[in-house]
Amino acid sequence: MKPKIYITRKIPDEIVNKLEQECQVRMWEESEAPVPREVLEKEVADIDGLYCLLTESVDKDLLDKATSLKVVSNMAVGYNNIDIDAAAEKGITVTNTPGVLTETTADLTFALLMATARRIVEASDYLKNGDWKTWSPMQLTGQDIFGATLGIIGMGRIGEAVARRARGFDMEVLYNNRSRKPKVEEELGTTYVAMEDLLRQSDFVCILAPYTPETENLITAKELALMKETAILINTARGGIVNETDLYEALKNKQIWAAGIDTFEKEPIDLENPLLKLDNIVTLPHIGSASIKTRMKMADLAADNLLSVLFSEKPQNVIV
Ligand code: DGY
Repeated sequence: MKPKIYITRKIPDEIVNKLEQECQVRMWEESEAPVPREVLEKEVADIDGLYCLLTESVDKDLLDKATSLKVVSNMAVGYNNIDIDAAAEKGITVTNTPGVLTETTADLTFALLMATARRIVEASDYLKNGDWKTWSPMQLTGQDIFGATLGIIGMGRIGEAVARRARGFDMEVLYNNRSRKPKVEEELGTTYVAMEDLLRQSDFVCILAPYTPETENLITAKELALMKETAILINTARGGIVNETDLYEALKNKQIWAAGIDTFEKEPIDLENPLLKLDNIVTLPHIGSASIKTRMKMADLAADNLLSVLFSEKPQNVIV
């Protein structure tokens, strides 16, 4: 009998078809709304594989209900939505989708950096709102990108890809990471520095670290106070890494110059969130990996990961 799997969101037909050749597939059909928790709890009761997104909390309670589950395949590189320890304890394999989204997420990180430095969104609104009456010397002036110092927190695949882009802009690249990366230092001319030095010296601070208990609230009022008044903070990793209340204060008081944020503590962000009232922030709805090609690759890789565990081939991209 084919193994049973549940897919927590509508994914492209070709990926569903591929999974249907090997498995009995059930799927939450809505593309815009996450599967309600009570539905998910019922659906996991008899499945062998769960294909999920970062919007689903795969916690111990859910895993307790999934008594025949063998694999959780997350269609994301980040897996902070999954209780890895509980899965490991139950012998459930967890997989993610690294690699395929690296360049796309680095592109978005750089786009956000440039948009924030050069006030692109603000300038576009200025024009559309009819505020453009004349050209004037200091109108909508921003920060230079070329030749600036970029500090990367988290030198993984995406950090490296951002550092590569920075070379084309003649930037000096500093980084901080759990471990030093001598190869990246040699190949990309990056310099490892202590966190405090990175915060003090950088014109742009890019957060590209995974969200873990160690990185939760990594950037608070204390860290923001070390940054230059002209500095820009970019976060395309996970919201919980930056304390949003402290970021709001730092931006409002012009303690730092601006921020470009793709990920938030609560997603979707509450429209009452004061960050959205500020001019010196560019906010995006978690679209780091959102190119058509990359999302297709992620969806396909998540399917391959799931099948490779269920059919005992050498499983790919295993976290536990
Ligand atoms: C991930 O994969 O973790 C991103 O946040 C979404 O692409």
